[in-house]
Amino acid sequence: MNILAVLAIVTPLAVYADLANVNARSWEESIALAQKTVAKLSVEEKVKLSTGLGWSYTQCVGNTAAIPSINFPGLCLQDSPTGIRFARNVSAFPASLNVASTFDHGLMYNNGRFMGEELRDKGVNVHLSPVANMMRTPQGGRGWEAQGADPFLTGVSVTQQINGIQSNGVQATLKHYVLNDQEKFRQDRGDIIIDKKTLMDYYIRPFKMAIDHSGPASIMCSYNSVNGVNACDNPVLMKILKEELGFKGYVMSDWWATHTELDGLNAGMDMVMPGSKACCDAGNSTVVPAWWGETLVSNINNSTVKMARVDDFATRILTGWYRQRQDENYPATNFNSWFPEEVQLNVQRNHKAHIREVGAASAILLKNSGVLPLTAKSGNLALIGSDAITPPSGINAGGDHGVNPDGTLAQGWGSGTTNFPYLVAPQEGITAAASPLGLKVSVASNNWDIPAVEAAAAAAGTSIVFVNANSGEGYITIDGNEGDRKNLTLWNNGDRLVEAAAAKGPTVVVIHAPGAVDMPWINLPNVKAVIMAMLPGQESGNAIADVLFGAVNPSGRLPFTIGHNITDYHTQIDMKNPIQHYSEGGYFDYRWNQKNNIAPLFAFGHGLSYASFAYANTAATQVCKGSTKVQVDVSNTGAVDGHEVVQVYLGYPKGVDQPAKQLKGFSRVMIGAGKTEAVSIEITPDFIQIYDDAKNTWFTPEGTYTVFVGASSADLRGEATFVIDSACTTAPTDEPSASASADPTAPASSGYVAPSAAASASYAAAPPASAKPKPTASNLYSSGEIATVSLFALLYPIFFA
Ligand code: BGC
Repeated sequence: MNILAVLAIVTPLAVYADLANVNARSWEESIALAQKTVAKLSVEEKVKLSTGLGWSYTQCVGNTAAIPSINFPGLCLQDSPTGIRFARNVSAFPASLNVASTFDHGLMYNNGRFMGEELRDKGVNVHLSPVANMMRTPQGGRGWEAQGADPFLTGVSVTQQINGIQSNGVQATLKHYVLNDQEKFRQDRGDIIIDKKTLMDYYIRPFKMAIDHSGPASIMCSYNSVNGVNACDNPVLMKILKEELGFKGYVMSDWWATHTELDGLNAGMDMVMPGSKACCDAGNSTVVPAWWGETLVSNINNSTVKMARVDDFATRILTGWYRQRQDENYPATNFNSWFPEEVQLNVQRNHKAHIREVGAASAILLKNSGVLPLTAKSGNLALIGSDAITPPSGINAGGDHGVNPDGTLAQGWGSGTTNFPYLVAPQEGITAAASPLGLKVSVASNNWDIPAVEAAAAAAGTSIVFVNANSGEGYITIDGNEGDRKNLTLWNNGDRLVEAAAAKGPTVVVIHAPGAVDMPWINLPNVKAVIMAMLPGQESGNAIADVLFGAVNPSGRLPFTIGHNITDYHTQIDMKNPIQHYSEGGYFDYRWNQKNNIAPLFAFGHGLSYASFAYANTAATQVCKGSTKVQVDVSNTGAVDGHEVVQVYLGYPKGVDQPAKQLKGFSRVMIGAGKTEAVSIEITPDFIQIYDDAKNTWFTPEGTYTVFVGASSADLRGEATFVIDSACTTAPTDEPSASASADPTAPASSGYVAPSAAASASYAAAPPASAKPKPTASNLYSSGEIATVSLFALLYPIFFA
């Protein structure tokens, strides 16, 4: 193994625990400060910390009151995973599903970091993001807001994003705790029945990873019930969070997820949001009385509620504020969700460069029989489908993007949205890239005018068909899709468009969707290439052009499985029954396919490149009671440089009841054409632990483990074994060589990697948080698209009823 190459790869993978949040105070110091402050507060003031001020009366989607006696300005809580909801002059970041599909620690971290810069500048104290719910079913409406179908990938992605968000002093909120994996019935008797082992190993694992390695300030409990009890009122779930997982922050309710005065409070919920009992009061002068608030003050004064519980919630809430140093010159909120015409500082900086990079890095090349990348020889291009163009009805049409767009789709719908400052449609990006090659671009964007589509395709050298499907949050229904998709078919005549183009000549299909779609046309001879681009945000058209023309060599990997048909997925939403049984345990997505020998259409982790890669010399070394280091030499056997995403799947010792191969590590590595790199991936002990539900504890099974290393869950190229023996009597487990070890100064308990040198370098334009330029009035965004928010606020009760 070439030692220099090892150094080149390993150094950027320096292990860190909480180093990204360098500016934060320690939990201990923050708790001590909070306790000291809480001791000075009256009962009324403590209650103020915990009770929201209602929906649409204040600037943010959630606010708590100021407490002048301690110089506490109150908290502004704001969505979303794609940026700052209901604001203007902000960036519209890629969907979290795209962020996860980069399989790049650095891009995940930077996504949080850059959103955090904008949130701080706007004076948002608490970001209502990221989402750690699981894509148990491909139809789940909010899957695009989360990180896919694997608990480990989800855990890494939310951890890195939280570290990035909190590096700016913003408090992150990990949500929705827990099992809010579908929209149907989420607030309407929706009850998930699950055993504790499955709950811990698959659904709580990402929350645990984030608590251990990033320390989110808060966690939002979810709408649904778990084993018969509302998640926000559920003492079992709260005990797991605060006692078993040692979460030191505060738990807030999802919006209107509180249904009683005392149950949540007694269970351990710390903050009630948004404060008004029912939705919505916009435009009225009367607030529907809140849960908690004055009633809680009475309940404390008459000893119905114990002071210890009150001090606990007050301390936890102030701990987040102190930990992020929001007591030291944190900007005041300077936007209003409901009156967008008020001051709207431009906080976008150069984040479009990152958004474009993630858009391209997350595009998954599913299939390519030589037609990509496009060159001058591709011939003139026909862009087919309304998804190729700027939406004629406006880029921000529909409150919370709650419409079936008549143009390109770059976000889903619901509270996970952000207003687009602009939206680069594929037509724009492709036209700009095609013109230097002398290629002409024609457009057939009427999805129901099949003769026009056929004519455009027949006249072109290559057709690029843009198709979509959409999903979102359950308070908006589009074409019978109640948040969750009612099926996996393409919308807007998409299948017919592909067939019509492919009947005339070579065709590339680009899919904008919140997850897997049916591809009945996949084997048509002229369907030469397919890209799953998902929901890339404001730079969508530039990002897809980068990939189509080869300016970026694709490296996105599927964070979910795509089946041949719906029965491949096994887990389904029971649309008729509010009680959902998670009886499959951990066997959903690729774990189900492996168990049942089902070959999917495209496997979890799959994604092609314009290069090709060979794997050799897989090895695993285990330090007793410490980490396992997996090493493999990867060669770029292609003609162009490219990133390979090296994936490590773990097989537990015989007799341990776990799926055969589970993702436990990955690294996205740039490898020059003809070059070989030694890749080293660390699996820390906590990634291997599983839950013992008899003893209510995490443990590491002893025995011989196998690591499978390769390019996807179904394309494993090498394997090695290692032994875990807690008495440390088994030989060997080689000590990793000095060159292969991680940063020796870093805590051993972490397996997270710092942003890669490449990722950091590409953002040199973005100044560090300490050197933030203050937005000025002269760079105010001036767009006409400001009308939807107030209207939406008025309509919200209808959606939510
Ligand atoms: C969503 C949350 C969101 C909240 C505030 C709820 O409907 O489930 O994710 O943060 O609204 O907008």
